[in-house]
Amino acid sequence: MSRIRPAAVMILAAGAGTRMKSATPKVLHPIAGRSLVGHALTAAAQLDPERIVVVVRHEKERVAAHIHEIAPNALLADQDEIPGTGRAVYCGLSALDATAVAAQVAAGAVGDTAVLDTQVEGAIVVTSGDVPLVDAELLGQLLDAHANAGAAVTVLSAQVDDPTGYGRIVRDAGSGEVVEIVEHKDASQEQREIDEINSGIYVFDAAALRGAVAQLDQNNAQGEMYLPDVIAIARREGGRIHPFIAPDAGSVEGVNDRVQLAQLGRIMNDRIVEHWMREGVTVVDPTTTWIDADVHLAPDVTILPGTQLHGETQIASGATVGPDTTLTDVQVGAGASVIRTHGSKSIIDEDATVGPFSYLRPGTHLGADGKIGAFVETKNASIGAHSKVPHLSYVGDASIGEYSNIGAATIFVNFDGVDKHHSTIGSHARIGSDNSLIAPVNIGDGAYTGAGAVIRRDVPAGALGRNSSPQQVVEGWVLKRRPGTPSAAAAHEALRSNDDGLSEGARAERAAANETEGES
Ligand code: UD1
Ligand code: CA
Repeated sequence: MSRIRPAAVMILAAGAGTRMKSATPKVLHPIAGRSLVGHALTAAAQLDPERIVVVVRHEKERVAAHIHEIAPNALLADQDEIPGTGRAVYCGLSALDATAVAAQVAAGAVGDTAVLDTQVEGAIVVTSGDVPLVDAELLGQLLDAHANAGAAVTVLSAQVDDPTGYGRIVRDAGSGEVVEIVEHKDASQEQREIDEINSGIYVFDAAALRGAVAQLDQNNAQGEMYLPDVIAIARREGGRIHPFIAPDAGSVEGVNDRVQLAQLGRIMNDRIVEHWMREGVTVVDPTTTWIDADVHLAPDVTILPGTQLHGETQIASGATVGPDTTLTDVQVGAGASVIRTHGSKSIIDEDATVGPFSYLRPGTHLGADGKIGAFVETKNASIGAHSKVPHLSYVGDASIGEYSNIGAATIFVNFDGVDKHHSTIGSHARIGSDNSLIAPVNIGDGAYTGAGAVIRRDVPAGALGRNSSPQQVVEGWVLKRRPGTPSAAAAHEALRSNDDGLSEGARAERAAANETEGES
């Protein structure tokens, strides 16, 4: 890449975002698993600038906390009470210059009066926290164009069908040079006919920008300091204004309300899905497949309809996921199959099978060739290679060895009402159906438990654990205690007509039944 390294990327994120009608600041709303400002920060970082600065004001604490979390090296600049994008950039530039001085001081230049004049030099990219489709590729092209043109300002413009609301790029009729940008609210009827709009994204020469933002005023329809006014000022001072028309006008669109949030979310998803298809992933139904920006898929993964892959989910080659599966921060191994499953913060090893109707909560680790089957919930559970939990069970806070089988409807009773406890099952163990394993409990290698057991004490290797009491049979109970019910009638009929294999008591009941029959 012949690309120049920008001195800084500045992201404007101080506006209120009123049209979102949200308690959450606009730039914190997510699409494709990242906040809007997160997308701007990602694009910024890929340009490898010396500094990234984000200008904040509205809901400053929340926005700052989020930025600190996702981009700890980004500098935050406070916008003061003077409104407008021009003021935002003035504040951002002051913060950048202050760090340039601080860096000199830290380098030991204290006392040298020259350092106090230290200022950022070079190219400064200015973008917004609400234009998530603007990626590093487009910003890079803008930087290249800026460098090649030797411009004071390079403005990213776009030709659109409906320019309403945008600032218009006013060009000289003769030379075609950009003269100024006029905001919609300040534009004449004639200027409103112009369909070339300002995207709000620019590259500035730092010195030209510094000189121009100091001259901005608020004499306009909105009483704000407009950043686009820098264009006319820089031109007046002899700077070159270079317009760069976006190859795809849709990609410079911003989010102002929830309708646009959904529209841009869809466009971004389409891009991501297309990217993975080009990398060798089969996506059967792109329109119902949602993939976050930080997901990673290997070639020959198959994604079936209705699947959402969130966070840092990673899927290895040959695995099939879906239909109707939602995975968040899940690792799926090669050749595994995950059907109709809801999972988060879990690991599924190669050739394992999960679903349908499985719920994998955080801390689940299913070993190679293992199985988590229908209506099974797991949490903080390690299930070894080749082990199976096939049906209707809850496995919470447990470690299970290899080649073990957990019978249907088994519950790991991990909570005593106050604390959670861990249970351990060895390898080649066989847990009978409908067990309650009262944690903490250990079941050794090769041990068995009987069906319906309530296991409170450890079962050593090779032992059988069972505790079901002998079955009681109370003959005739239904006829006596539930007379007049359909069950009693059915029992009555069966006892009257069939004496095969009946106990003595049952025979007596049958005789009694026949007697009653005779009476009626
Ligand atoms: C701005 C441009 C307009 C352009 C449009 C493209 C100005 C005056 N107008 O208008 O020419 O066509 O973007 O979408 O710049 N912000 C601050 N501090 C403020 C005000 C805004 O940081 O005081 C931030 C906002 O958070 C946002 C960005 O600047 O990220 C743009 O602000 P917004 O109010 O959306 O500007 P537009 O009216 O869309
Ligand atoms: Ca806007």
